[in-house]
Amino acid sequence: MVNKKIKTKVYPNSKSGSKIFAKSLVNEINEVLFKKKYCLISIPTGNTPTDLYKELIELYKKKKISFKNILFFNLDEFYPISKDDIQSYNYYLNEKLFNHIDIPKKNINMLNGDINENNINSHCISFEDKIKRLGGLDIQVLGIGQNGHIGFNEPGSLIDSKTRKVNISDHSLSIISNEFNNKNEIPKEALTMGVDTILSSNKIFLLAWGKTKSTIIGKTIKNKITKNIPATYLKNHNDVTFILDKYSSSKI
Ligand code: PGA
Repeated sequence: MVNKKIKTKVYPNSKSGSKIFAKSLVNEINEVLFKKKYCLISIPTGNTPTDLYKELIELYKKKKISFKNILFFNLDEFYPISKDDIQSYNYYLNEKLFNHIDIPKKNINMLNGDINENNINSHCISFEDKIKRLGGLDIQVLGIGQNGHIGFNEPGSLIDSKTRKVNISDHSLSIISNEFNNKNEIPKEALTMGVDTILSSNKIFLLAWGKTKSTIIGKTIKNKITKNIPATYLKNHNDVTFILDKYSSSKI
């Protein structure tokens, strides 16, 4: 394995980091759209990107960006879950981003947590095929779990993994459980883009804010590539930037 350098940008806090990153993301997208008709992008859910979404909506209102030619592919989704469930990532993305910008519905490609078990394989294969057919992801934005997961590629995930159904680790479940009112309703599985799917993107940005992410960010940057910390696989990519604040970067 190659072990390339991860670039880092450190901001005073998540608010200023999100604001500056939103502007540079918009520039990146516009640069892609200058060269070709569509920009394929994937962005994460969770707590990390909420300010980023707000900033993107502001930039859209100021006409700094149109999302009409953006093809969106989502990173992960719980399984099983209805897309109308307020805990689903489908619902979350609609509420926090898509309902506020001009992205056409047909450009939104979501992993479907509601799909029949028998159809999961073909659903994941056609998700992957669509990305490939359209020329691959231009930009992948990630969060990171405290255990080093990217998407729901939990520790143990392989570098050549593709979009698939996975078990959510106990560690992640214990963190997610804070967000579910009814603990019996927490899905134990998820659909996620694979590590290979993520690495096939042209550019990758990973966002992490706050002290709770400092240990895993430190380990990811300092450790060799290991399946125990899936985020270390990003060292295999030519163009990865970690967007951090002074707290999450305190151990690098
Ligand atoms: P968070 O989740 O943004 O809610 O911290 C990140 C992740 O688990 O990938």
